Amino acid sequence: MQQVATGLAVTGSGSAAPETSLDNDGLSQIVDTSDEWIASRTGIRSRHLSGPDESLAKLGAIAARNALSMAQVEATDIDLILLATSTPDDLFGSACQIQAELGAKHAVAFDLTAACSGFVFGMITAAQFIRTGVYRNVLLIGADVLSRWVDWTDRRSCVLFGDGAGAVVLQANENDRLLGFALQSDGCLHDCLNVQYQGKPRPLTDNITVSQGTYQPVSMNGKEVYRFAVNRVPEVVEKALFQADLTTNDIDWLLLHQANQRILDAVAKRLKVPAEKVISNIANYGNTSAATIPLALDETVRQGHIKPGDTIAASGFGAGLSWGAVVFQWQR
Ligand code: UT7
Repeated sequence: MQQVATGLAVTGSGSAAPETSLDNDGLSQIVDTSDEWIASRTGIRSRHLSGPDESLAKLGAIAARNALSMAQVEATDIDLILLATSTPDDLFGSACQIQAELGAKHAVAFDLTAACSGFVFGMITAAQFIRTGVYRNVLLIGADVLSRWVDWTDRRSCVLFGDGAGAVVLQANENDRLLGFALQSDGCLHDCLNVQYQGKPRPLTDNITVSQGTYQPVSMNGKEVYRFAVNRVPEVVEKALFQADLTTNDIDWLLLHQANQRILDAVAKRLKVPAEKVISNIANYGNTSAATIPLALDETVRQGHIKPGDTIAASGFGAGLSWGAVVFQWQR
């Protein structure tokens, strides 16, 4: 097979959320909180939650089907499926289950874990395969069911999270619509936000002991994560824009990971991006981790606001800690 370097375009989007939702008043029946506190500190009013019979793979597959349909691409034409998630149904990965669910029999499929930065990291990973001419059609899904790992007795964190999925189709394109990106990690700040494995010693023989256990619920230092986001996200967006030879004046949309409305507002203010260019759907979904960016993108596209050719600066940030930004043009 001759491999020819090429550009790429984002040609379709899709999203999905569990039917069941829990508003702030409902949440205040579970922990000592209120709609007033949650809405004023975070902008969140409600979140969708998966039930015991729902799977991440099924949710991801619905979002994926919607994206394929918008891009008018058959599942059998997909070369690669990337699933950005921190909450797979199977620790060995859930991307292959989605591949089977879609009947994408020619696609190779694997998971990518970078928490709330997962979608942006996934987009750049997908771009490498397309730009080198290895693959032409990539399906990128960001999906998380954090309700499985949230500590539902911890009012400082449980009010933030929800479940959801979003997907995009990335295709080889004569003109490269991915204009710039920047990715960063700082493992020294890992303690600020994690879902840590904790095991107990399990002796196997007289001199061999292994560890067996499970993951602990989400542990978060909210103030540190807030500070990190407000400082690092504007920087990384500026870097990606610089690489694209653009400034914030050139973008049509600022699409940030939906973590907290106050973070969105503070980042936009630092970047001097007016509120009408800042995409936000956090009120209805909360923080759905790797799903927030494609979910918000898809909603805004389907509402008719994002038009072909619009320039979008997107940024994901979260556990790792990790953060990144990508500048791209929608479709074309
Ligand atoms: O993908 C990244 C995921 N993580 C994040 O995005 C987290 C970023 N951080 C944040 O969004 C904010 O730090 C939070 C929303 C988590 C917290 O907001 P804050 O303004 O930093 O509140 P705080 O932690 O300083 O708490 C202020 C007060 C405290 O009471 P006292 O000590 O002042 O009496 C808390 O105990 O609010 C109390 N509090 C609550 N009260 C009602 C904390 N959580 C709640 C709650 N309901 N849910």
